Amino acid sequence: MATNESQTAGAVLQDTPPTDGAPTVELRGAGKAYGNIRALHGVDLQVHPSKVTCVLGDNGAGKSTLIKIISGLHQHTEGEFLVDGEPVRFSTPREALDRGIATVYQDLATVPLMPVWRNFFLGSEMTKGPWPIRRLDIEKMKKTADEELRNMGIVLDDLEQPIGTLSGGQRQCVAIARAVYFGARVLILDEPTAALGVKQSGVVLKYIAAARDRGLGVIFITHNPHHAYMVGDHFSVLRLGTMELSAPRSEISLEELTNHMAGGAELAALKHELAQVSGVDVEELPEKEDLTASVAAPSEGKS
Ligand SMILES: Nc1ncnc2c1ncn2[C@@H]1O[C@H](COP(=O)(O)OP(=O)(O)OP(=O)(O)O)[C@@H](O)[C@H]1O
Ligand SMILES: [Mg+2]
Repeated sequence: MATNESQTAGAVLQDTPPTDGAPTVELRGAGKAYGNIRALHGVDLQVHPSKVTCVLGDNGAGKSTLIKIISGLHQHTEGEFLVDGEPVRFSTPREALDRGIATVYQDLATVPLMPVWRNFFLGSEMTKGPWPIRRLDIEKMKKTADEELRNMGIVLDDLEQPIGTLSGGQRQCVAIARAVYFGARVLILDEPTAALGVKQSGVVLKYIAAARDRGLGVIFITHNPHHAYMVGDHFSVLRLGTMELSAPRSEISLEELTNHMAGGAELAALKHELAQVSGVDVEELPEKEDLTASVAAPSEGKS
């Protein structure tokens, strides 16, 4: 299994060209307070073309708040948010989209009973003919969706099938291809692999790499350091709303990243809490070192 993982890593991660110049998207000391709840504070983040920036963090760490600022759903209440070096403040997701920032949410805004091709063009349908007899250009939409999916290496048997019949991984891939087709420069993915098994996660990671190779800057939100490390160029770890780690791939190993995610302090706190619950033998729980070791060689069937 460990060998498998490293083979996949090799296949997914290729050398990307160095990028210089202004980042497409940048946060400088950005933060967000909801009333007097401070969800995010002092966050620095850069997104470059053809690079994957991974944002990791536990539940409630502020990951969704971070992407809501970038995708135009919420506004930052401190610091700066820049697109192409220019300070911005979006009031709607449409404004972010107009600047090329596309977000694929985990619940995927698709209509399950509509065919794949129809979902591909949802909200941006192709039409033909002059007003008032303007109608949907069904043939062109089917042909384009088919071509675009193939261009990304996504092969589906039948684009007429309702999108709801595709697997979660396949739907994520369609959403990625759609963002690429509609000209996204920055693609934000909120935990795209969270509900997927090992194989399907691999497929989604492959298309994250494909989007990166098409020149997009990708923000990949995940809980999973293994998934992050397979495609990431830069890793940012959020904890309780602040960025506790920000490192390029060359400066951090998978083991170190995993340790940050399953830190010894948290593990001790968890043990302490579990000790209060009857029926859990805390002495039987793994030590931090054991966790790190099992991470290096994950057992079969676990992602
Ligand atoms: N609309 C809101 N109003 C008040 N507090 C909020 C709001 N949205 C988020 N929060 C708080 O901000 C903090 C960060 O939440 P956020 O959803 O960004 O975390 P997350 O890292 O995405 O977590 P998860 O992994 O569970 O999705 C949490 O403490 C949350 O309760
Ligand atoms: Mg979230």
